[in-house]
Amino acid sequence: MRLNTKLTSVPLALAALILSQSALSMSGSVDEQSKKEASPQTEATTQSDEGAFVAEDGRKLKYDPKNDAEDRGQRISEAEFMQAVKRSFLVNDEQEWKRFSDPTLKTCNVSHDKPDMEQAKSILAREKASIVLPEHGRYMGDWKQGKKWVEGAHGGRIGYPGFVDADNPAKLNGANCYACHAVDPNFPQNGNMGPSLTGFGKMRGQGEPMQKYTYEYIFNAKSFNPCSLMPRFGNGEGHLLTPEQIADIVAFLLDPESPVNQPKQ
Ligand code: HEC
Repeated sequence: MRLNTKLTSVPLALAALILSQSALSMSGSVDEQSKKEASPQTEATTQSDEGAFVAEDGRKLKYDPKNDAEDRGQRISEAEFMQAVKRSFLVNDEQEWKRFSDPTLKTCNVSHDKPDMEQAKSILAREKASIVLPEHGRYMGDWKQGKKWVEGAHGGRIGYPGFVDADNPAKLNGANCYACHAVDPNFPQNGNMGPSLTGFGKMRGQGEPMQKYTYEYIFNAKSFNPCSLMPRFGNGEGHLLTPEQIADIVAFLLDPESPVNQPKQ
């Protein structure tokens, strides 16, 4: 089907990235905000409605692979995007939604990621205080498990139910570190928003201070860099990873046996 309105052509994934760093935490109520913006005016669809998702305003939205070929994404309005996010966070976990409106993100948004000294100090202190150890009491877990979490992309995804898959909340989340980092040199793809972590343990060592640093960075990057673009994986309510998963990832990055610290195969 065709959505023919004042449409944004931002693919969902990109929009999600922008969203995670901006608009939401400034806008108090998302519902109010999205109502104010773009009241959708769509043409009726001539295609079959089978498999369509009925939006709150009664319109039927349907995934169209033809759009994918054209621009790699469905064209949706701002209001539709907000609705999709809100819905799928409800599907996954109500608590996850809170992550978007916490005081740290608010300060970062308002200051355009340039908090003043007082604000930075207060963010660092608050974020540091969120860090807890796994129940087994160690910073390092099992690197083979860690490999799995680093590669995994399950959890925290957005989309209309049946449109983009809604994550099963009973399954542990993956971390999708490759979206931003090179890690295992044998992994076929990586992003480069963050520095390469290939050979991390080999270059930086495996001693206790390094284990602690790595654990805390993954648990809460904003305890080091107040407005870091790296997600706070262990932080607070609606966290993405458990402390045990984070320890497994530390082992994956630091253990000399891990492929991260071995030559490329
Ligand atoms: C959205 C992008 C993004 C994702 C996803 C991400 N990171 Fe990062 N990471 C960064 C950026 C950017 C930095 C650079 C420092 C900063 O801005 O905080 C960084 C820094 C780091 C550092 C510190 C590097 C150093 O040289 O001391 C570690 C360790 C790290 N990331 C590990 C991970 C792991 C492990 C994952 C997955 C669990 C992950 N990151 C996921 C963006 C990301």
